[in-house]
Amino acid sequence: MSDSVSPTRRRTLIWLLRTSGTALFAALVYPVMAYLKPPKVTGDAVSSVRVGAIDDFTPASGTLFRFGNRPGILIRYEDGSFRAFSATCTHLDCTVQFKKDAGIIWCACHNGKYDLNGRNIDGPPPRPLDEFDVIEKGGEVFVTEA
Ligand code: FES
Repeated sequence: MSDSVSPTRRRTLIWLLRTSGTALFAALVYPVMAYLKPPKVTGDAVSSVRVGAIDDFTPASGTLFRFGNRPGILIRYEDGSFRAFSATCTHLDCTVQFKKDAGIIWCACHNGKYDLNGRNIDGPPPRPLDEFDVIEKGGEVFVTEA
């Protein structure tokens, strides 16, 4: 019995193995890469939004709003003044919320805490919240890019 394989047959087998190996690799890698790649975010780019009437916001309150495709949080202080911040946590992008009982802006994901001036005061957030400008005009509250 002979072990010899003709050179043509050997090349054909090698080609088949490489081709099927490449196809298998692509079949495994492509779905993983497609899953890991974030989808394109579409949405209106805005530079200003109307959040509501001044009287809609009680003193010592926090209200979430949409700034284009991003969340924002409008804080109304005891003295009636306003400030607005991005509501995207600077740690891992969870949406923060106003916590009236503690008097803070809080991130539930990892217990991150910000004071009502948007400064990170406890937990993992590495920096303050980004701030928007607030304009009161005609009894309405508008928020614009800072
Ligand atoms: S995402 Fe907000 S504390 Fe981690």
